Amino acid sequence: MLTRRSLIKFAAAAPFATAAFAAAPSPGLAAHARAKNLVYGCATSTYQLKDPLFVAALKREAAMLVPEYEMKRDKIEAARGQYDFSATDALAGFARDNEMGLRGHTLVWHAANPPWLEQAVTATRNERLFTDYVTAVMTHYRGRLSSIDVVNEALLAASPRQDGLRESFWLKAFGPGYIDTAFHAAHQAEPSCLLVYNDWGCEAGAPKNDRMRAITLDFLSKALARKVPIGAYGMQGHLGAFDPPIDQKKLRQFLDDIRALGLRVIVTEHDVHDDGGSSDNAVRDRAVADASARFLDVVLGSNAVDAVLTWGLSDKYLDAPGWSERLAGYEPRFLPLDRTLQRKPLWQAMANAFDRA
Ligand code: XIL
Repeated sequence: MLTRRSLIKFAAAAPFATAAFAAAPSPGLAAHARAKNLVYGCATSTYQLKDPLFVAALKREAAMLVPEYEMKRDKIEAARGQYDFSATDALAGFARDNEMGLRGHTLVWHAANPPWLEQAVTATRNERLFTDYVTAVMTHYRGRLSSIDVVNEALLAASPRQDGLRESFWLKAFGPGYIDTAFHAAHQAEPSCLLVYNDWGCEAGAPKNDRMRAITLDFLSKALARKVPIGAYGMQGHLGAFDPPIDQKKLRQFLDDIRALGLRVIVTEHDVHDDGGSSDNAVRDRAVADASARFLDVVLGSNAVDAVLTWGLSDKYLDAPGWSERLAGYEPRFLPLDRTLQRKPLWQAMANAFDRA
């Protein structure tokens, strides 16, 4: 079984050392995490690496990267059968050069697929339409990834099915077995990589989240009983600053239940959406930080958790604001650093949460 220590060997030893003789800003999140045998990382993109100020912040803060777009199938296999790994290779090279770990995201998902795929799957129901892809990516990155999200978001709280599976084109074509098949193909191609089932909806406390926790535990326990090689649950960790606060008791119980299955946990995509509340930055920053603290205090109290990654590092590179933010006239502030790469209350809340872990 993977432990914090074995996961950590893929992650950096660096930010302290590189910054030591410059006018050193205080240690980054990676250092706060590492002091507790944890890993902090974030999603990033090749276009962001063209920004030297951002790169400096990334090196200071993060010990692990995950590609935000580049490793999705619409990017890697835009043309059927022609794999283009160049963008993910660039991120992998950056991670290697800077002694950062790298995690993979994502192999089988209902979204971010090339336009030809769904039609081909529906028409032929040929399993090789995903097993070949899984094998190609796992083989290309053999030995490079500490973990990978093999299947993303296959469950849905609102699913009418008793097993809670999302009625995606994958499910419609192959039935529930597509998930097992994807994990087996990944394991066969690269037995040393930690294989992750990644999803959202188990974080918060509403009845729909109760259902999501129940179907997730049911799915994972049955998959493990069938000897599907799932090594970890990826908890995306998308929160809302103005949603009802996390129910810490329910979250703690869920993480205990996951741990009892023998699985590791990685928080894979943490951020705190700040729409729906005040348009005052200081109020939103406080609410974002408080929501994260309430979440991370439980998460980092679990021995099953090895790493926390945020979905981006700086608000500078968030997607264009959605309608609600545009109408209210403010820019979203989901992430640890603001648009000028300064640390925000969320950064401090995360550093404190690591320190307390
Ligand atoms: C998102 C990206 O951040 C967006 O910019 C893109 O348009 C769609 O994908 N869950 C996931 C991630 O697993 O891959 C998603 O990332 C966010 C939700």
